[in-house]
Amino acid sequence: MGLQQPTRGPGVLAPRILAVVNQKGGVGKTTTTINLATAMAACDMKVLIIDLDPQGNASTGLGIPRTGRDTDSYAVLIGTATMTEATEESSVPGLWVIPSSAHLSGAEIELVAAEEREYRLREAMVLHLQGAGADYDYILIDCPPSLGLLTLNALVAADAVLVPLQCEFYALEGLSMLLRTVERVRKAFNPALNIQGVVLTMFDMRNNLSEQVASDVREHLGDKVYQTVIPRNVRVSEAPSHGMPVLVYDLRCAGSRAYIHLASEVIKRERSQAA
Ligand SMILES: Nc1ncnc2c1ncn2[C@@H]1O[C@H](COP(=O)(O)OP(=O)(O)O)[C@@H](O)[C@H]1O
Ligand SMILES: [Mg+2]
Repeated sequence: MGLQQPTRGPGVLAPRILAVVNQKGGVGKTTTTINLATAMAACDMKVLIIDLDPQGNASTGLGIPRTGRDTDSYAVLIGTATMTEATEESSVPGLWVIPSSAHLSGAEIELVAAEEREYRLREAMVLHLQGAGADYDYILIDCPPSLGLLTLNALVAADAVLVPLQCEFYALEGLSMLLRTVERVRKAFNPALNIQGVVLTMFDMRNNLSEQVASDVREHLGDKVYQTVIPRNVRVSEAPSHGMPVLVYDLRCAGSRAYIHLASEVIKRERSQAA
């Protein structure tokens, strides 16, 4: 089987594949995926989001109608569609999306008996990147709130993991399980996998707890934590109901500015790790 590192051809850099992972729900995975991708696209990069959560919030947040999702990430995983066939244009120039639909909710169970079940996404990715027209700079995978087979597929396909952590009392709880999972995937399936970084989300300046959590997390994880902190910002939470990234909905709000900073930090780290 051709499970070599995906490449786009001789001398051309492959896209960097980042999995946005945290087994807790509501910590800012989808928001981070959409807005980090939009900020990258605004820097003239070509970006693909793969929505790997059956809830499909990344697809909805990018304005992809539910009716337009027949060929979705589920079809890619089970092999009835190629990534190219499943890719939709978003309203943001330079940003494409492979949407998810409710079909995906059966995938965890259906794939259990499948051959090479952890490699489904990676295989689709390799095929895609060997084909023509696949010239993304970044592929971001929005994961569901679990460490099941869907997230495992993302970790096996990815170069690196980006972990959003919500600034709340239990922020660090569950993190060691997540890090152990990454370690296991590295040993068993994907030796090149690393942690890109941890981003603190929903930081509330008026709340001492946020400050306390942020400093605990930094003490614990050191420079794995990005300098950029995403503030709790009402514009960020309004944007998805308009089917827009917050950067399009309100470019000047604090949330948009934070995601622009985060994108530059992520890109800088990627370049220094690739060097
Ligand atoms: N920085 C923020 N400020 C305010 N609300 C936010 C922020 N980030 C996320 N939210 C809101 O919190 C909820 C959970 O975020 P989401 O990105 O969907 O989390 P996850 O994908 O981890 O489940 C959503 O309603 C989202 O709009
Ligand atoms: Mg989500």
